[in-house]
Amino acid sequence: MKASSKKKFFCHRLGLAESEAIGEGTRVWAWAHVMAGARVGSGCNIGEHCFVEKGAVIGNDVVIKNGVAIWDGVQLGDRVFVGPNAVFTNDMAPRSKVFRDIVHTRVAEGASIGANATLLSGIEIGEYAFVAAGAVVTRSVPAFTLVMGNPARPSGHVCRCGERLRPVRGAAKCKCGQQYRLDPKSGGLRTVAASAAAKKAGR
Ligand SMILES: CC(C)(COP(=O)(O)OP(=O)(O)OC[C@H]1O[C@@H](n2cnc3c(N)ncnc32)[C@H](O)[C@@H]1OP(=O)(O)O)[C@@H](O)C(=O)NCCC(=O)NCCS
Ligand SMILES: [Zn+2]
Repeated sequence: MKASSKKKFFCHRLGLAESEAIGEGTRVWAWAHVMAGARVGSGCNIGEHCFVEKGAVIGNDVVIKNGVAIWDGVQLGDRVFVGPNAVFTNDMAPRSKVFRDIVHTRVAEGASIGANATLLSGIEIGEYAFVAAGAVVTRSVPAFTLVMGNPARPSGHVCRCGERLRPVRGAAKCKCGQQYRLDPKSGGLRTVAASAAAKKAGR
């Protein structure tokens, strides 16, 4: 194994990295394929047997475990984690050789997708949300919210650090010190610092 010459990312000799837009320090492992026209940030890890289609957008420091396809229309924010064999989709009514507009899916910064979870398209996974292993996600997931099951339903809240949170009277504080407020509209959480900044900005 040696780093690709001139390129600042690493591609295993059995991997295929055709995109011109792969960031520094990203590693593409054996039998993984990144198509031309896909955008991948820096510091990412793209595991064995992954496929990144043209039009897919991947942020920085994203970890994609083995056997995941990131299709056109899927956008992953910075520090997203995708567990092994998780499934994304971009067509809600697929038929062979019937070509429709792709339906987009966005996974916001820091969110985690559990092993073997399936995400239907046209949804957004909020920042630092957590999709349990094997969940089938049919609706958008609010920030810092854990969903599980088929169909996936909210089952609690999770801190940025990964600890479970138990909001009391609309507020939660994690062992790590981070504080949150419940967003009654979405059912998700907002970091206290973020809401203070928003207040200052007059929003
Ligand atoms: C969702 C998750 C975070 C819950 O962890 P937890 O809070 O420790 O949950 P527990 O193990 O205490 O289980 C609590 C309940 O949820 C259920 N549960 C746990 N994980 C579940 C899942 N993925 N789907 C459905 N139900 C689940 C348990 O059966 C249990 O139900 P019960 O109270 O009726 O017995 C964890 O199970 C999970 O899915 N982690 C992701 C692992 C993964 O995919 N890693 C990828 C890298 S290898
Ligand atoms: Zn925490």
